[in-house]
Amino acid sequence: MKRRHFVKLSAGSVVLPMVLQNCMFHDRDGNVGIVDTGFDMPLPLPEEAGASLDLSPGSQRTSILEGKTTSTFAYRSNILGPTIRAFRGEMLTASVQNALSEPTNVHWHGLKVPANMDGNPVDIVKAGESFQYSFPIDQRAGTHWYHPHPHGATARQVHNGLAGILIINDDEELALGLPAGDFEVPLVIQDKRLKAGKLVYDPSMMETMTGYFGQTITVNGVASPFHEAQGRWYRLRILNGSTARVYNLALSPNLGMKIIGSDGGLLGAPEDVNEVLLGPGERLDVLVDFSAEPVGSEVYLESKKFNGGSSQGAESFKIMKFIIGASTGDTFQPPGSLSVIDKIPENQATKVRNFEINRMGMMGSGAMHTFNGKSYKRGRVDETVKAGVTEIWEFDNAGDEIHPIHIHAVQFQILSRTGGRNGIIPSEKGWKDTVLILPKEKVRLIMTFPDTPGEFVFHCHNLEHEDDGMMLNFEIV
Ligand code: C2O
Ligand code: CU
Ligand code: CU
Repeated sequence: MKRRHFVKLSAGSVVLPMVLQNCMFHDRDGNVGIVDTGFDMPLPLPEEAGASLDLSPGSQRTSILEGKTTSTFAYRSNILGPTIRAFRGEMLTASVQNALSEPTNVHWHGLKVPANMDGNPVDIVKAGESFQYSFPIDQRAGTHWYHPHPHGATARQVHNGLAGILIINDDEELALGLPAGDFEVPLVIQDKRLKAGKLVYDPSMMETMTGYFGQTITVNGVASPFHEAQGRWYRLRILNGSTARVYNLALSPNLGMKIIGSDGGLLGAPEDVNEVLLGPGERLDVLVDFSAEPVGSEVYLESKKFNGGSSQGAESFKIMKFIIGASTGDTFQPPGSLSVIDKIPENQATKVRNFEINRMGMMGSGAMHTFNGKSYKRGRVDETVKAGVTEIWEFDNAGDEIHPIHIHAVQFQILSRTGGRNGIIPSEKGWKDTVLILPKEKVRLIMTFPDTPGEFVFHCHNLEHEDDGMMLNFEIV
């Protein structure tokens, strides 16, 4: 650790060194204090795999920090897993031979798949056992991801390395001629808690409430990396694979970016932003233009301060560095329009469901993280939805915590957000499967459910909250 931590106690401003207050890793605002490591490790690019692949998880070792080796979990890699690239219409076939010493499974976050292939928490692959996931890819192009979903262990397994990006391509998207190959870069952003170079996942009761925050920000599995870029347009596919940390992404110095897609694929048209919030589980597809940057200059992807309630947003920090090389005379021009997002009319909805997040007065039940006072129970059907219908789901967050809410089996549209930010942000204008709900916000989502029956879950993608039970079952009948 390059920075020393001190804790201010409110009574009489006594100052104690961190070592004496081991349980108080956070300052008063719940910030752990980001430590960057100098941006001297190159950005690794995960191996690419096609739609038919081996995706066996196991224990591995890698260097997250330079010169230090740590034990990790990974899918046939040192950390994380391959970037899977599949074309719409292909079958995805993934063999999972569980070489971990604990149960796991694979959930295809963002994909519309049959219930028995969805990595539901009840469908587990035990240590030493295997399972073959197999389903057709039948949805538009987009940036998705895969990760384990064993109830109570999801956060630790993801924190320790199990996650990867899954890209779907289709003809509509290919026709746009967006930057590809070396100029299309997947970025998996995760914060990690490291002690003496080792990954540590041991949330306290307080961290189960706020989320487990790491001091080390990794991209594609290494701390504070750099990437040598050319002076031209790039496409960055960004995944927030952190358990709880929200990033307010920006490019310094003030480069701006064009958002072209979010969770469910391309937006209707590019959206120019200088900063954008990205919650756990969410993805962003952005175009950035390095062509006007001087050769040798440095551009940082950073997270700016934001109003995130009591637990997040008080700190700004750098995530990774781009070192800009010579201009390539690239002639790419961002398209003015990308796709067509057909709005689902509100009057198509046959039902409105309301979910109150962490309703007051339920603390006595012992459950801290709930929807309408309920927390996860294996096998209990909490909501029954008719196959193929359109519904509106409202989530009301009256509390002080941040909740990125994720629904399996669907891509939804956000009708409104009231309270808090009071509106929809540019990255929310397309299809989404995860929506960030800040304190005092209420969001209304509209979605059409699949035609095929089956059991799925919806949950908070703050993985500490999820493992603590902030997840319910819904059954499509
Ligand atoms: Cu990304 Cu149910 O999860
Ligand atoms: Cu999911
Ligand atoms: Cu939550």
